[in-house]
Amino acid sequence: MIKDESVEKIIDESQQGSTLALENNDNNSRKLYIESYGCQMNFSDSEIVASILAKEGFNTTQILDEADLVLVNTCSIREKAEQTVRKRLEKFNAVKKTNPGMKVGVLGCMAERLKSKFLEEEKIVDMVVGPDAYKDLPNLIQEIDEGRNAVNVILSKDETYGDVAPVRLNSNGVTAFVSITRGCDNMCTFCVVPFTRGRERSRDPQSILQEVNDLWERGFKEITLLGQNVDSYLWYGGGLKKDFEKASDMQKATSVNFAKLLELVAEAQPKMRIRFSTSNPQDMTLDVIEAMAKYENICNYIHLPVQSGSNRILKAMNRLHTREEYFELIDNIRKIIPDCAISQDMIAGFPTETEEDHQDTLSLMEYVKYDFGFMFAYSERPGTLAERKLEDDIPGATKKRRLQEIIEIQQRHSHYRTLQHLGKTEEVLIEGTSKKSDAHWMGRNSQNTVVVFPKEHYKVGDFVNVKINECTSATLIGEAVGYSKNN
Ligand code: SAH
Ligand code: F3S
Repeated sequence: MIKDESVEKIIDESQQGSTLALENNDNNSRKLYIESYGCQMNFSDSEIVASILAKEGFNTTQILDEADLVLVNTCSIREKAEQTVRKRLEKFNAVKKTNPGMKVGVLGCMAERLKSKFLEEEKIVDMVVGPDAYKDLPNLIQEIDEGRNAVNVILSKDETYGDVAPVRLNSNGVTAFVSITRGCDNMCTFCVVPFTRGRERSRDPQSILQEVNDLWERGFKEITLLGQNVDSYLWYGGGLKKDFEKASDMQKATSVNFAKLLELVAEAQPKMRIRFSTSNPQDMTLDVIEAMAKYENICNYIHLPVQSGSNRILKAMNRLHTREEYFELIDNIRKIIPDCAISQDMIAGFPTETEEDHQDTLSLMEYVKYDFGFMFAYSERPGTLAERKLEDDIPGATKKRRLQEIIEIQQRHSHYRTLQHLGKTEEVLIEGTSKKSDAHWMGRNSQNTVVVFPKEHYKVGDFVNVKINECTSATLIGEAVGYSKNN
């Protein structure tokens, strides 16, 4: 029986660490062990770091005990994510007793948030490197080799790593992430990201296209364009998004927004499947939805976090849209792309949230009936506006109960959505063997729903038409009826 292949979608993603290894270069003599936590951007950044360090003589390893350098790419989004990292540091400490030459570096959002304080709080740490400082790693490693601690947490106005070709780590060879923006200017009051990843800047479309073309040449079939807030992508020749007004008329006239970037990528590789994440509803425009409808290779799936269904709470969160405007956006998506899947992020128990506000969240969910969701209890983050201005006043038990109610509704809706696929024949891109059965492939349809089916003669990377016969709330189960026309 094959069940709930993708149920981990609902699990807090920041709790999952993952180690990475790649094809190694024989000339390299030192061993790098790199572990990543948190968002997709962190996993993508670790590929950039591995690429930079491959040139410095490091091969990656998955065996912690043999590492010369241990790097942990950290997440600060919720307190639990930080606790997980601190637990890992304890483990590294134990390993260091048998491997005293081992050096430990922290990368990512916790590095940026805590800066050199990290060195005092965690004696095991030799090096602290923020998300915009990875190109300085060769110098920082030289410092720690010479016995000094090293810190670089400078946030940049223009670093996008556009010129670093990421090494694809632990890749299935089929799907890849391509980052298009860094940082975020939205300042949602609960969110630490604007502090840890800096101001928003976009990457040159030419370097994005080059990376996509290169991935296609190497056999990849699907890419996800990544950013904290992809709909706000804007290239006008470089520089921060907030400085666009100061750009010349010429720069403005030739600028590329997100809808245009989607078109450029879709046309450059018409057989490549294209996804993107994440969209903030306040920045998503109709031309993006129209571009999705126009190009068959742009997948019919939008991750559209709303966080709350209450207008009062949305305002307190500095989410710059109302419940009604969100419904209008949902209606437009459904009108333009009737079979578009939509997923959410929700926060239960934001400061001052009343039972009535919570009911608004539940009723919003009933209206949208999301296909998937990522749901969290509010976690106060140091330095955010919510932490400075609002008391974290919702008791833990209440947050937990509200979160549970949200999760239960989501599970019901996920099942409602998977049931709609029964009897249909859908194109699936095969990503690998099903976790539950060696005899089955696992892939996704355009809507990003996991599909499993008997392997037969098909192989990883094939586009296959699959007839859907059964489903759980998270997985579709079917049988292949032949290659799709895209194969
Ligand atoms: N734009 C980002 C959002 C980053 S955070 C992206 O690309 O995914 C991902 C989700 O974590 C948010 O949508 C929100 O639901 C949740 N989150 C962020 N800060 C939080 C906090 N302080 N407490 C609980 N959940 C939080
Ligand atoms: Fe965070 Fe809001 Fe940006 S959730 S990443 S500040 S869009």
